[in-house]
Amino acid sequence: MYCLGIESTAHTFGISIVERYSRKVFSNVRDMFRSESGGLIPVELSEHHVAVWESVLHSAIERAGISLSDISLIAYSRSPGLGHALRIGSIVARCLSLRLGVPLVGVNHCIAHLEVGRVHSGFADPVLLYASGANTQIIALEEGLYRVFGETIDLGVGNFLDSVARFLGLGFPGGPALERLAAEYSGPLLPLPYSVKGMDVSFSGMQTAVRSLLSSHSPQAIAFSVQEHAFALLVEVSERALAHTGKQSLVLGGGVACNQRLSSMCQRMCSVRGVSCFIPDKEFLVDNGAMIALLGIRHAEKNLFIPVSQAGIDPYERTDEVSSLHQ
Ligand code: ATP
Ligand code: FE2
Repeated sequence: MYCLGIESTAHTFGISIVERYSRKVFSNVRDMFRSESGGLIPVELSEHHVAVWESVLHSAIERAGISLSDISLIAYSRSPGLGHALRIGSIVARCLSLRLGVPLVGVNHCIAHLEVGRVHSGFADPVLLYASGANTQIIALEEGLYRVFGETIDLGVGNFLDSVARFLGLGFPGGPALERLAAEYSGPLLPLPYSVKGMDVSFSGMQTAVRSLLSSHSPQAIAFSVQEHAFALLVEVSERALAHTGKQSLVLGGGVACNQRLSSMCQRMCSVRGVSCFIPDKEFLVDNGAMIALLGIRHAEKNLFIPVSQAGIDPYERTDEVSSLHQ
């Protein structure tokens, strides 16, 4: 009994095969749209997804060592994201559901980033730091809802890092390139605005300030200083959410959590507080079909199937509009 999960909210088209009862991931294939300019043009993205979906599907089936007829559930990313990208995933999902005669579930991409960490950590009730391209949120379950305790009030931390990388001519995605540059630097920290407002964070002031450093400082010094400031904001609000809720564990999700510096800062904060910290493997942090399948399996357990005729998309759904599936 396998679930086929389809990720298609932005730059990545991914398909994964996950066994429904053990939740074992049998394959997790991704193909990411890349551009030299560092921009994400919606029409180009959708052309990319249309071009690659079939080969991604075949690889996922082949690597899992199963056949299409072994699939008993299709899950797809229904929200939030770019309409151009979401639509391709939902069409592939509907076609497969009809062709195979199996039920369909549509899931929220942000909750899926968190669900994979929850399943793999085994923690019952963690605080979640979701640090990705478009989103930066500190989330915890409260009274049946995913409550957002703090979030960015402007840019997502990944989009912020990508924009700094673009200023430095590093292309997309910028986060990994900045991490490599930062590791080459051992000089003093450059001063940058540090904006924590209540439980919320802001990156636009730092983004403006970075522009003024470009002509007078090395890319390595800028990358290092940007990482130190941006990640300190995230660790500060995560720690406050742990203190406020009294929860005993932190789980990271989203592509920015691939960063070694962020993960070591989070691990250190958690060990000082005496709480547990879990960071999923990189293939499950960036956009991927496995996280969609894992959340899809939970939807199916709650009988949250959707008819093919209603399997649309919702580009703007917020994390705190999704009711908890964990009761
Ligand atoms: P969202 O989940 O909010 O819709 P997204 O799907 O674009 O956004 P992800 O795929 O989770 O986001 O993550 C992509 C982001 O992660 C990019 O901004 C990329 O630069 C960043 N990223 C990837 N690896 C690293 C790294 N090693 N260090 C910092 N950032 C990284
Ligand atoms: Fe994502």
